[in-house]
Formats: sequence, C-alpha cells, structure tokens
Amino acid sequence: MSEIPSIAPIWTLMSPASTIGLRLLPGALDLPAQQALLDEVMARVQAAPFVRQVTPGGKPMSVAMTSFGALGWTTDASGYRYEPRHPTTGAPWPDIPQALLDLWAELADPKTPPDACLVNFYDAQARMSLHQDRDEADFGFPVLSVSLGDTAVFRVGGLKRGDPTRSVRLASGDVCLLAGEARLIHHGVDRILPGSSRLIPGGGRINLTLRRAAPA
Ligand code: SIN
Ligand code: FE2
Repeated sequence: MSEIPSIAPIWTLMSPASTIGLRLLPGALDLPAQQALLDEVMARVQAAPFVRQVTPGGKPMSVAMTSFGALGWTTDASGYRYEPRHPTTGAPWPDIPQALLDLWAELADPKTPPDACLVNFYDAQARMSLHQDRDEADFGFPVLSVSLGDTAVFRVGGLKRGDPTRSVRLASGDVCLLAGEARLIHHGVDRILPGSSRLIPGGGRINLTLRRAAPA
C-alpha cells in the first residue's frame, strides 16, 4: 500500500483543557486503504500471533496483542516494558507496514521514525482500562493510533487519574493522535460495538499504535 490517505478534517477536542493536543482524524483512511492495511497486518500476524499477555498482577488481559517494529510492548510478572522479541515465538517482531510509517512521518514526526507498533485485537468481550502510555523513553514523541474494524467506545480523561472523562467513538479508518499536552492523558476502551464494521472477517477491532519507545 503506497498511497498516503488524504487527511482533510483535523479537529481538536478543546475541553477539558488537558485534552488539548488530542487530535481525531475521522475517516483518515478510506475503505481501500483500510483493507490494504488489514492485509499487511494479517500477513505479519501469521509469524507473530496475537497473545493474551498477563498483567504484572497476574491477570490475563482481555485484549490480545502483538507488535511490529524493533520493539514490542510486553507485560508479564516482571512488569510492563518493551522487548525486541515476541514472547512466545522468540522471534524478532515483523517490520512496520510502510503505510503506517508514512502516516507517522506526515502526522507525528517527519525526522524520527517510530520503533514500536502495538497491535491490539478486541473481540466483543475485550476492554482496556483507563491508563497512560508511559513506558516510552521520550514523551516528546506522540502516540499515533489507527483503528480498523468494529467501532470502539474510547474513553479519554485528563492528565490526572481522577479527572473527568468523556467518551469518543473510534471507527474503522479513524486516526487519533496523543500529542503535546495530551501525550500523557488517561485513555481506555470501554467496549467495542460488535457488527459495526464488516472489514475484519469474523468481526472485532484492531488498533495499531505507533510509538517511539527508545531514545531517538
Ligand atoms: C491503547 O491504549 O493501547 C489502545 C487504544 C485503542 O485501542 O484505541
Ligand atoms: Fe494506551
């Protein structure tokens, strides 16, 4: 997939103040671009299957994960961290699809490429509790997320855990950028809306988050 999607409407959530820098780009990827990206993802998942990892507290996550790039986000009894190898196959992670690298260069940082792409798979039961993305070395780099398949009920809060939250729907092809003051906002997925998209055979949602995990 070579074409860069045309990014027309960028709107920024202006309230509460701590969500400034959260940019939503609804429909950033059109249907052919979503399908091409899904094909790239599924080809890589053959070698790096989705795994339901365990939290440091010993609870299996409801979201199944894999990664692309030099580093993959990992959790087990030893804690949260980035690792260069898949936790069950022991192989290096597959490379990051070019379309995602292009999107990062356009929207996040033209000079420093991402070194980690977390790939989350949500079935109808999966959820992700409110958290911050803070396992990366330099919070100056944004987190760029691309949604494929069923719509997510995405929850965004503020910089502090108790801050008010609001719910935003992330549909297939939507891009969300946590940048600037919003880089460390709390966020999570309340649930997905099964049947809201026909992109993924069998249903479900895939979310790809691009990060710069190691120091640049
Ligand atoms: C995440 O925070 O890792 C995933 C967010 C999402 O699935 O939209
Ligand atoms: Fe996150």
